[in-house]
Amino acid sequence: MANASGMFTPTAPCVRRRFSPSIGIYRSGFWFSEGVSRRIVCSSTTQGAEKLSPSESRVPRLLSRGCKLVGCGSAVPSLQISNDDLSQIVDTSDEWISVRTGIRNRRILSGVFSFAVHMVYDAAAGKDSLTELAVEAAKKALQMAEVNPDDVDLVLLCTSTPEDLFGSAPQIQKALGCKNNPLAYDITAACSGFVLGLVSAACYIRGGGFKNVLVIGADALSRYVDWTDRGSCILFGDAAGAVLVQACDTEEDGLFSFDLHSDGEGQRHLKATMKQNDKDHELGTNGSLLGVLPKGSSYSCIQMNGKEVFRFAARVVPQSIELALEKAGLTRSSIDWLLLHQANQRIIDAVATRLELPSERVISNLANYGNTSAASIPLALDEAVRSGKVQSGHTIATAGFGAGLTWGSAILRWG
Ligand code: ACO
Repeated sequence: MANASGMFTPTAPCVRRRFSPSIGIYRSGFWFSEGVSRRIVCSSTTQGAEKLSPSESRVPRLLSRGCKLVGCGSAVPSLQISNDDLSQIVDTSDEWISVRTGIRNRRILSGVFSFAVHMVYDAAAGKDSLTELAVEAAKKALQMAEVNPDDVDLVLLCTSTPEDLFGSAPQIQKALGCKNNPLAYDITAACSGFVLGLVSAACYIRGGGFKNVLVIGADALSRYVDWTDRGSCILFGDAAGAVLVQACDTEEDGLFSFDLHSDGEGQRHLKATMKQNDKDHELGTNGSLLGVLPKGSSYSCIQMNGKEVFRFAARVVPQSIELALEKAGLTRSSIDWLLLHQANQRIIDAVATRLELPSERVISNLANYGNTSAASIPLALDEAVRSGKVQSGHTIATAGFGAGLTWGSAILRWG
């Protein structure tokens, strides 16, 4: 079991010497060369089976490291909301929603929906914690990978809706019972979060000596949906999905390439910004600071220009996948499965058409779950793996896109 840490110490001579040839990491892929990566220094300590002496570095061995996906899992709330249910609260219909989006049902954390629309649902039937869902998905991924929680080096929780402002990943690490206090933190990149998490895991493994990294995508956008806005409330559902990314020899390497981007200019098309509450702080009799101190804050509901987001996704996603394929030295014909963020069936179809991929090679489950943000890719992957569709050795082109705006893709192999 390894506990690893990475830091920037360009002057450490002993480690510098060991970093030759050096590893460089590019925004849009990995590359190996002398020079630049001399800035990156990694130190690691080991516990248990793999014992190194304190002066012995793990770094030289990192040069021949790869990473692969060895386990997946997912969890959804029990409470299911159909299009017909939604038509009771906004002016819409099953036909409109399914034709325009492909969505028929979504799962919602209990409490959210019944509270929002004053309808009575069996709250006891649903999960009411996103963190619990994430833990359940992570446990299933560990089980499939046959990895003990104590052997997890890092937990990355990709979410825009944590249940603690400071991040929920450490709570997941605790609930999993990872005894060695592995690092756990959140990544916020909306619906691109999971792809970013995957790439981050690969970087930690290839350059940081980490061995087992749990990447979890979990979101509960239902908590930030305006349930009176028919243009957006029909789209979203809650869920969690997870994969276990594991260190391996380079010959087995399963993350071939990636391509990541963001564009803050487009934020106006999709956002849930912070707002100050109307009420001032209670300052007792001394109100001299009133008007100076910030008021309590919360986030506004999701505001979305659906048409613009649609155009953006249909334009950038095929480009990004083409770039990632080129970096991997592969062509479209190498893709066994196209696995996109599940936002809208029409977006998925448009991207598949641009890439000239037949529908039999496209994974889609949004009819049952809607857009589950950072959870959508690992949720769909988990279903596809467990149903036998995706098999060991299959090549997957995956892409996330959404708020930020952010987008990115990765070409990877399952198993
Ligand atoms: N039911 C019935 N009618 C509706 C509904 C509804 N739920 N919503 C909108 N309409 C009406 C509109 O009012 C409009 O009526 P009008 O012609 O009389 O003015 C008409 O339907 C067409 O509306 P559009 O907004 O043009 O419909 P569009 O075909 O663009 O579909 C949708 C809207 C489904 C939101 C689509 O634009 C979309 O999916 N965009 C992508 C959104 C997305 O994926 N967002 C998430 C990104 S991931 C993340 O980071 C969170």
